[in-house]
Amino acid sequence: MEHWIEKIDAAETLEDLEAIRIALFGKKGELSKAFAQMKNVPAEEKPKVAKELNQLKQRLTKIFEEKKERLEEKALEEKLKAESIDVSLYTPRPQSGALHPVMKTMDKIIEHFASLNFSVEAGPLVEDEFHNFEALNLPDYHPARDMQDTFYFKDGKLLRTHTSPVQIRTMMRQKPPIRMICPGSVFRRDFDLTHTPQFNQVEGLMVDEKGKVSFANLKWILEDFLRTMFGDVDVRFRPSFFPFTEPSAEVDISCIFCEGKGCRVCSQTGWLEVLGCGMVDPNVFKAVGYENVSGYAFGLGVERFAMLLHQIPDLRSLFEGDLRLLEQFQ
Ligand code: DAH
Repeated sequence: MEHWIEKIDAAETLEDLEAIRIALFGKKGELSKAFAQMKNVPAEEKPKVAKELNQLKQRLTKIFEEKKERLEEKALEEKLKAESIDVSLYTPRPQSGALHPVMKTMDKIIEHFASLNFSVEAGPLVEDEFHNFEALNLPDYHPARDMQDTFYFKDGKLLRTHTSPVQIRTMMRQKPPIRMICPGSVFRRDFDLTHTPQFNQVEGLMVDEKGKVSFANLKWILEDFLRTMFGDVDVRFRPSFFPFTEPSAEVDISCIFCEGKGCRVCSQTGWLEVLGCGMVDPNVFKAVGYENVSGYAFGLGVERFAMLLHQIPDLRSLFEGDLRLLEQFQ
């Protein structure tokens, strides 16, 4: 039996050892056979032989277990070595998403007006001529109604050209007082450095009993808003014209690039035009069946705000989905 000690010693792998275990300790193994032979041993020698056999078994078992432990340690070491990770290796980072600069700007605008208790309304993108033009006092001959300027459907409906129709929908759905904004997409047949066929606007409307809403209120609301967006800027109101407001104004801020000194962005004027506004035209109130009310309205282009806030020179780059641009806004 001593040759088993050499065999165990010579085993190089756990598989070798397992073969030895079966051949030596197994049911049909050498030891079992040796114990089976006990029946042929004369009775007076049995205790002595049995004792020796048991001692041998214990010794072999001990040697076997020690060897097994050593081989297991070796196997574990080899496994760890094979599976080791080089943490200094380059791995590309997973791309993480971020809000588009236009969305970020939109959120900032919405947050400002929501904090002043303006409700946030929505309307359909496919509008009819009544809500998009007629009720807003845009006459038949107005250039915006031309096929060249608006996307029409065969049934006479159209993609809304501004968010102003949501003024009409909100007034027809609710009673005054109204204090709302409407952010959303609008569509025009236009495509160049500063125009895209689809862009975003935010509309604002406040209506209450006659005499309660004045141009002074409008001025304060917009000055406060523009300073929240652009910081410490000068704000000026220039008389203008919109069919749905009377009087109307366009609003400029002092150029945020040259601080009013005159540069390329402001065409040397020192001012940047940022929105349109005015007191709601009586004809608009007539169209929605309102009497004895007064109100103001305003509208702005979100992309223009985003371009000014982030100094993006070409409007179209906001719509191209170029990751090199978008990654800068994470
Ligand atoms: N709807 C106008 C446009 O798309 C923007 C606008 C100007 C909206 C004046 C208003 C306003 O509510 O009072 O150009």
